[in-house]
Amino acid sequence: MSVRTKSWSPTSWREYPIQQLPEYPNSEELERCYQELQTLPPLVTSWEIESLKDKLANVSQGKGFLFQAGDCAESFDLTRSSKIVNLVKVLLQTSFIMIHEMGVPVYRVGRMAGQYAKPRSSAYETVNGEEIHNYRGDLINGFGATKEQRVPDPKRLLEGYHKAGLTLNFIRALGDEGFADLHYPEQWELDFMRNNPYHQEYEAMVKSITQAVKFMDAVSEKRQQQSQKVDFYTSHEALNLFYDSAQTRKVPRKEGYYNLSAHMVWLGNRTRDLNEAHVEYLRGIENPIGIKIGPPYTIDDTLRLIERINPKHESGKIVIITRFGKDRIQEELPSLIQAIRKEGFPVVWSSDPMHGNTFSSSNDYKTRNFDHIMDEVKHAFSIHRSEGSYLGSVHLELTGDDVTECVGGSKGLDESGLDLNYETFCDPRLNYEQSLELAFLISKEWKKSYG
Ligand code: PEP
Ligand code: CO
Repeated sequence: MSVRTKSWSPTSWREYPIQQLPEYPNSEELERCYQELQTLPPLVTSWEIESLKDKLANVSQGKGFLFQAGDCAESFDLTRSSKIVNLVKVLLQTSFIMIHEMGVPVYRVGRMAGQYAKPRSSAYETVNGEEIHNYRGDLINGFGATKEQRVPDPKRLLEGYHKAGLTLNFIRALGDEGFADLHYPEQWELDFMRNNPYHQEYEAMVKSITQAVKFMDAVSEKRQQQSQKVDFYTSHEALNLFYDSAQTRKVPRKEGYYNLSAHMVWLGNRTRDLNEAHVEYLRGIENPIGIKIGPPYTIDDTLRLIERINPKHESGKIVIITRFGKDRIQEELPSLIQAIRKEGFPVVWSSDPMHGNTFSSSNDYKTRNFDHIMDEVKHAFSIHRSEGSYLGSVHLELTGDDVTECVGGSKGLDESGLDLNYETFCDPRLNYEQSLELAFLISKEWKKSYG
């Protein structure tokens, strides 16, 4: 397989064709914002990035689980305390369920503190007879459906950095206090599980987690939140390469360049052309990298992509995130697993059961069905199990808020309930209850395969 011979730099991608990034009308202002972003302090450190990579190397050997989840698109305006608290809380609780059920370490990576850029299927939309740019996430343009709002604005690169910094600062503080939540099982809001066949088992599990924490308190004579720090990592799609490359730097006493805007970044399904800018950028950084794989793709290109981004075959570096949809996964996943294994590439396998299962409801909402999501997860586990491969991660879109964006789950939300609280700026997310329920069911599937 060919390896690029041209030299790489944080800006070498600018010489390649690029998808999904509209031209900024004012290139001088773009350069000014870019340069300012380059001077600002990093959001994360290279040590944290290396530590996540080590953890992912364990996952690739079947010794842990990566739980990556959060909003489809974060919004600048919703950089608010309650929203962040709710999301951190649901990520913590879901991961505790997994740890309890699976008995292996679970590493939390939020789609948070930088998930502000979105790929779109069309560049323009027509509003009141006028063609305007499509919304591409707050990092690029405004959500409001007017021509002015939708003009790509480079100042948003700086606002994104500031909002990510504020979010991350609060996540880190909550991580120190994170265990507090475990002491109050009444905050686990279990009523919704009443209609679920697993209700009793679920309740027993929460009790047992609470007892374990109390026991630890008694033994250490300290409350857990004072003695334990909860690790949280951040991630986003490396889509707006101006944002990512301005924060890509060398650090003292280490080889290579780090994207210091997040611990992990991923390559979206629509920007993985081998000869284009996003792949060029990602081949040069040290961070763990997710690669979304779904139709249309070829196995051959996927192998070349992995080789291009991880030529040293570093363990813990590549997370293959499959998103085939419940109807295609059975036909697609086995041969992909076999081909990657044949090459000997050390990858973490992840299932994204969200992006291949989106549809329009009869009342015109973009939605997903809890059962379809669970179907893809079940297929993913059973295929990996029969291929002798380890499915070590799931990738979900969820929120800690009480939204009505996906149908199904124990509460039986149906299409007529979607307009109660439909808030997403992009794809539909699982709400708090659906997330907890799904985490529980995912853990059961994992246990069936590897427990
Ligand atoms: C996403 O993760 O929000 C996304 C756009 O996914 P994909 O690239 O898999 O379509
Ligand atoms: Co999405």
